[in-house]
Amino acid sequence: MKIRDIDFGKQPVFLAPMEDVTDPAFRLLCKEFGAEMVYSEFVSADALIRNVNRSLEKIRVQEEERPVAVQIYGRDVESMVEAARMVEEAAHPDVLDINFGCPVKKVAGKGAGAGMLKNIPLMLDITRAVVEAVKLPVTVKTRLGWDHENKVIVELAEQLQDCGIEALTIHGRTRSQMYTGEADWTLIGEVKNNPRMHIPIIGNGDIDSPEKAKEAFDRWGVDAVMVGRATFGRPWIFKEIRTFLDTGEHAQLSTDWKLDVLRRQIRKSVECSMQRTDCARKATELGGIIHVRRHLASSPLFKGIPDFKPTRIRMLRAETMDELFGILDEAAEKLRENA
Ligand SMILES: Cc1cc2nc3c(=O)[nH]c(=O)nc-3n(C[C@H](O)[C@H](O)[C@H](O)COP(=O)(O)O)c2cc1C
Repeated sequence: MKIRDIDFGKQPVFLAPMEDVTDPAFRLLCKEFGAEMVYSEFVSADALIRNVNRSLEKIRVQEEERPVAVQIYGRDVESMVEAARMVEEAAHPDVLDINFGCPVKKVAGKGAGAGMLKNIPLMLDITRAVVEAVKLPVTVKTRLGWDHENKVIVELAEQLQDCGIEALTIHGRTRSQMYTGEADWTLIGEVKNNPRMHIPIIGNGDIDSPEKAKEAFDRWGVDAVMVGRATFGRPWIFKEIRTFLDTGEHAQLSTDWKLDVLRRQIRKSVECSMQRTDCARKATELGGIIHVRRHLASSPLFKGIPDFKPTRIRMLRAETMDELFGILDEAAEKLRENA
């Protein structure tokens, strides 16, 4: 699969853009395990053009994570064009992605993100203008439609393609669904099977196992899959999926190896936090710990350990690396007892 001249190979798997999750430390870890492209957190066009520190920090990319996409969102043509140019000049990502899928009220309620699904003409104007404004390949990430009665994606995909985008990511839910229910892949398949479509289609929604990723390729025919929530506390999912897609075998990853990955994730998160130059999240150990502790607490590695809840709560309250390492050691002990 290719986006312009970037060749992602066969059946690539991407890390989804996720606010407060996909910072450079996490992106690098996922890349190491096989994510063929990683995305920044979404960045507000308005904030970016006002030079808000936190937004400038969000668009920074590192050489080792390429190919990397930076994602922006906004609600008018001018600010989106200006932000797109800023991203191109300041960050030089490989791809510029536009978010027309964020369902949260503070974004969609103001007409940006998935809010744009209620104003398709403006969505298309923005897309066309951004494509014209930058030399980078421009891609879009969106949902099936605003609600059950307005699942417009099949026609919308053609319209977006006509604006000049070079790939389209579809999350198989409507805005009204937020994150509830199951992702519906049938319309993603319909877009992919539309003979008028020629740009790559990236399928997204509920991929949480190698089998589901394989089904997305085999049954729905997508060109790439994108994984979001299933990466929490499990960045090695990319290795699991890649191994299964390439060999049909399940990767044999030991519990000790996974615990080591989580320890490394803690260190990387703190390192990354210490390098921050903005003041939105303090450049401290605590900043990195706050960021990473939710990941650990939701790791599937600890599922099934009896009476794990108090340990999980302590993980969520930990404030230092040493504390978190100590809790992980305890969890490791419990895993051994439970084996
Ligand atoms: C915590 C969180 C933050 C997210 N932030 C973004 C974002 O910044 N941009 C975006 O396009 N989607 C965002 N999403 C949506 C994901 O990219 C993805 O579309 C969604 O989680 C469905 O995929 P999944 O079932 O694999 O998680 C976010 C999702 C979560 C859970």
